[in-house]
Order: sequence, then structure tokens, then C-alpha cells
Amino acid sequence: MRVGDTVRRPLGPHSPLVHAVLAHLEAVGFAGSPRFRGLDGRGREVLTFIEGEVAGRPHPPWLADDSRLASVARLLRAYDDAVAGFAPPAHLLEPVAPPELPGMPPEPDAAPELIGHLDITPENVVFRGGEAVALIDFDLVRPATRVDEVVNLCLHWAPLAPERDRSDALRRVDAVVRTRLVADAYGLDGAGRARLVPTAVRRTERSWHLMRHRAQTLGGGWARMWDDGVGEKIQRRLAWLEAEGERISAAL
Ligand SMILES: Nc1ncnc2c1ncn2[C@@H]1O[C@H](COP(=O)(O)OP(=O)(O)O)[C@@H](O)[C@H]1O
Ligand SMILES: [Mg+2]
Repeated sequence: MRVGDTVRRPLGPHSPLVHAVLAHLEAVGFAGSPRFRGLDGRGREVLTFIEGEVAGRPHPPWLADDSRLASVARLLRAYDDAVAGFAPPAHLLEPVAPPELPGMPPEPDAAPELIGHLDITPENVVFRGGEAVALIDFDLVRPATRVDEVVNLCLHWAPLAPERDRSDALRRVDAVVRTRLVADAYGLDGAGRARLVPTAVRRTERSWHLMRHRAQTLGGGWARMWDDGVGEKIQRRLAWLEAEGERISAAL
């Protein structure tokens, strides 16, 4: 909820880590995130409101602009560089550790490099003058690699999905070309490029198990998403990645 020049958001088990990340970003002078201003009388977090343009639903056509996409990748790079010096105490990480589920493949074996944002959806990026200027919604932060971050951005923006599962705005864009564009604008190194497709595949496989687990244990919106077919959608993404993976890796 917006209140004046702030937004008020509900807390969750992840919130202490989010608040520590936002405090670190403020301390290092990173301009591309809201500031954390404590809790209000109703126990909600208070964040500064960031003026600008944010995509909603239906997705606006400008999501297909390559120059906007490059600016999102540069912003993510700036966030990753700003957060890389942040080493949270272990107790903040416990609530965000993913559960180990039977049948779920393990995380990719690269060691985490930073506290990733990992939710770079169009709805979580603020633009001004056609340039991405801020990330919002840090609820999914947790230890990640730079490749995880780039994969997450590409999932939503390339997008790494078959045409039937894309919004109209992104239906006909060339996801292979846009993935390369993201890697270039982010400045992903050669080793990271080589790991991008396998990481996307593994993360997609894991997300099927994690989404099913959340639907079963948390119910609510998670159960509705599962009933609406998010599991099948994840399977279609996997099939798409298997079909297009070689082209993506070659383009990278
Ligand atoms: N700090 C902020 N500055 C500007 N807009 C915001 C801010 N926080 C949220 N919003 C707006 O509200 C929407 C939903 O907020 P968000 O924090 O992403 O919550 P959710 O968990 O529902 O995705 C965003 O897509 C954006 O339009
Ligand atoms: Mg959001």
C-alpha cells in the first residue's frame, strides 16, 4: 500500500535479511533501491516510494525495447556489484534457505557470490526516461551467483519461454538475441556464459519441485497458481530450454 512518499508492505520470515540488504545498499550509496525506514504502527515495513514507470498487466509494448532491456541488465549489474561486499550473519540466511525436497535436483554447484535479488520481473523494475533506475520487491533475496541473477532476468525479459506462455508484448521477440544482449550489458564473463543454459535448466527443474511444495504446504495463492497450471508451464519452459539451449549457448 502506498502512503504518501512511502510504501507499506507486510513482513515475512525473509524480512530481516531484506532490511539488512537495503541498509547495506543505502550505506554504500546505491541509488537503485528503496530505502528501508523501519516499521509502522501496524507492523508493516516502511520503504521509500520511487517515482517512475513500472510495468503492470497487461504488459506494455515497451517491454520489447532492447534499449530498455540493456538498461535493466546494467542496473542488475550495479546492484550485484553494490551487494557483493555484504556478508550477512548466518541467522539472517536460515529463513531463506530452500528446503531439500525428495526428487528435487541439487542447486548448481557454483558457490554463491552475493545476495541475489532473484525476482527481476517487469513489475519489479522502475523506469524513468526509458531507463531502468531502480529495483523493488526484494522479498526473494538469497545467496546466489551472478549467473543465477542473469538467468532470472532472462527468464522474465528475454523471455526464456515458449511463445504460448509469453505476454503479447514479448510474444515475437527473439529470446536468443535478447539473452546475448543481457549478457553483454551485464558484462557476464566467459565462464558465466558457459554456465547460463545449464543453470537455467537446473533452476527450472528445481522451481517445479519448489512450487509444488509451496502449493502443498502454504496453500493460498501458491495453491491457486499450481491449480492454474504453473507446473505445466514450468515443464513447457524446460522443453523450450532443451530445444533452444544450443542456439542460446552459441549466441553467448
Ligand atoms: N518502493 C516502491 N516504489 C515505487 N513503486 C513501488 C514500490 N514498491 C512497490 N511499488 C509498486 O507496487 C507494485 C507491487 O509492489 P511489490 O513490492 O513488487 O509487491 P508484490 O510482492 O506484490 O510484487 C510494484 O509492481 C510497483 O508498481
Ligand atoms: Mg513485485
